[in-house]
Parts: sequence; structure tokens; C-alpha cells
Amino acid sequence: MTAPLPATDLPILLDAARIDARIAELAAAISRDYADRTPHLVGVLKGAWVFMADLVRHISIHCTVDFLSIQSYGSGTVSSGEVQITKDLDVSIEGRDVLVVEDILDTGRTFSYLQEVLGAHDPASLKLVALLDKRSRRIMPVQADYVGFEIPDVFVVGYGLDYDQKYRNLADVRYIPWPQTLPLFGQ
Ligand code: IMP
Ligand code: MG
Repeated sequence: MTAPLPATDLPILLDAARIDARIAELAAAISRDYADRTPHLVGVLKGAWVFMADLVRHISIHCTVDFLSIQSYGSGTVSSGEVQITKDLDVSIEGRDVLVVEDILDTGRTFSYLQEVLGAHDPASLKLVALLDKRSRRIMPVQADYVGFEIPDVFVVGYGLDYDQKYRNLADVRYIPWPQTLPLFGQ
């Protein structure tokens, strides 16, 4: 296991105040768009849990929440094509207005898989809110319905996002700037 790089050495891409302000805007849009419904927010563990906790507290209409856990196989930081649900939903989504909550949309493989699997359970609607969007890396033809920030192709950590399971607890989104460390991240 690689020793963690000190968090304070990592430059900030998005600070906590900026993230909070943007989440308030996303929540306002969601509250407006789902005004006559009760959206069912499905958080994708573990990366999305910090975002989801802040998002729901800015939502002003009734909503319900559930979580699922995904294992994606590959080199650890680059998602492979193989995705598997390791913790399934607790309640049925049939007839529900499902809003999948993701930390980051990268190649789109995870959401593409979720669209297929969750779509098979006949939700009334199925949309995606992603805090971050690395649009330039997209392989699958998917997009988020609500996006916090479009970011460049850098490896980001913090605010729920990890490298080697670490850095999830950082309040800001930071990135790995050093080219010589990129092989560590499989880029
Ligand atoms: P996708 O299936 O390629 O869209 O990958 C989405 C998942 O890859 C995210 O939910 C993250 O878990 C992970 N991921 C992609 N880029 C990053 C990053 O820059 N930092 C941390 N995790 C990432
Ligand atoms: Mg994730």
C-alpha cells in the first residue's frame, strides 16, 4: 500500500465555501423540478455520501433516501468496464422518481450500468446528479441531469472522494498535481 501524500500539500481545486454555494443552487433546482413529487435519492457509496448529506439538507421538498454500494474492478483509480453492486437498495424503486447521487461522472461506465440495472425496476423516472463531471473522459454516452462543476482531467480527492480509501474527510476538493505521481494513480 502506498503511503498517503500529505493532504496539506495538495492544491485546492474547489474550496468548501464554493462547493456549499453550488450545492445550494443544485438543491434549489431539484426542489423546483420535483415540486409536485417526492424524489427518491439513491447515493452511490462511498464517494457520494458527503455530497448527499449536504445536498439533502438544502432540498426544501419531501424526499426519501437510500444507498447502494458499487465495486468497480480495474487498477483502483481508473474504473474498468466491470461494475458490480455490493450493497443493494433497501426499498423498491418501482414507480418512484429516482435521482442517483454520484460524486463524480468520469468515463460514465458506472452510471451507464446503474441506468440499466435500476431502469429494469420500473422507476417513474431516473435522473443523475453528479457533484463533479470530467466530461473529457467520457466513454459511455451518458450525462448528468444536474452537475455541480465540470472539472479538467485531474485526479481529485476530498469531500468524499478517495485515493486508496484516504482523503475522503477533506472539506475541500483537492487534486494531485505532480506528473511523477500519476503512475501511482494509473493515469
Ligand atoms: P466512471 O464509472 O468512470 O464514471 O467512474 C465514476 C467513479 O470513478 C466515481 O464514482 C469515483 O469513485 C471514481 N473516480 C473517477 N475519477 C475520480 C477522481 O478523480 N478521484 C476519485 N475517484 C474518481
Ligand atoms: Mg464512486
